[in-house]
Amino acid sequence: MQQTLVLLKPDCMERRLAGRVIARIEDKGLNIIALKLMRVTPELARRHYAEHVGKHFYPPLEAFITSGPLVAMVVEGLEAIAVMRKLAGATNGRDAEPGTIRGDFSCSNRLNLLHASDGPEAAEREIGMLFTPEEILPHTPTIFPWLRAAGE
Ligand code: CMP
Repeated sequence: MQQTLVLLKPDCMERRLAGRVIARIEDKGLNIIALKLMRVTPELARRHYAEHVGKHFYPPLEAFITSGPLVAMVVEGLEAIAVMRKLAGATNGRDAEPGTIRGDFSCSNRLNLLHASDGPEAAEREIGMLFTPEEILPHTPTIFPWLRAAGE
């Protein structure tokens, strides 16, 4: 089991797409084990996007991610990090395959609707920045045996 951080960015909220994106995550069989509406501060943005601070696209990225409320989630599942990245599609919505969330709903590199951690270290770091252990509620839905084979 893996956990990954998903952010439904301000464009996703403004466009009223949060419910549809969450439905896709649920439809895939991933499990939401933490969720909150929050506002990212510039300080938090700099920590979350530490690897991008200093790049040419960072100042507008920070302005965008701090521009309004977003939904932060911890999503759990088998290989959840890779599965969630595939579900999201390529970073640039114009390159993302149809059928992915960005491929179906985004035509932008920055306004790309959601963030999903890109590896295990990033997931652990990003989850730790946004959620306390008490806010994460792992549970086993009753449908679980129908979402993967025994032993998988
Ligand atoms: P995200 O998955 O949140 O991680 C970093 C974000 O930076 C990325 O989504 C994009 O929104 C943004 N980003 C990455 N590369 C570029 C770029 N070349 N121009 C503009 N924004 C970018």
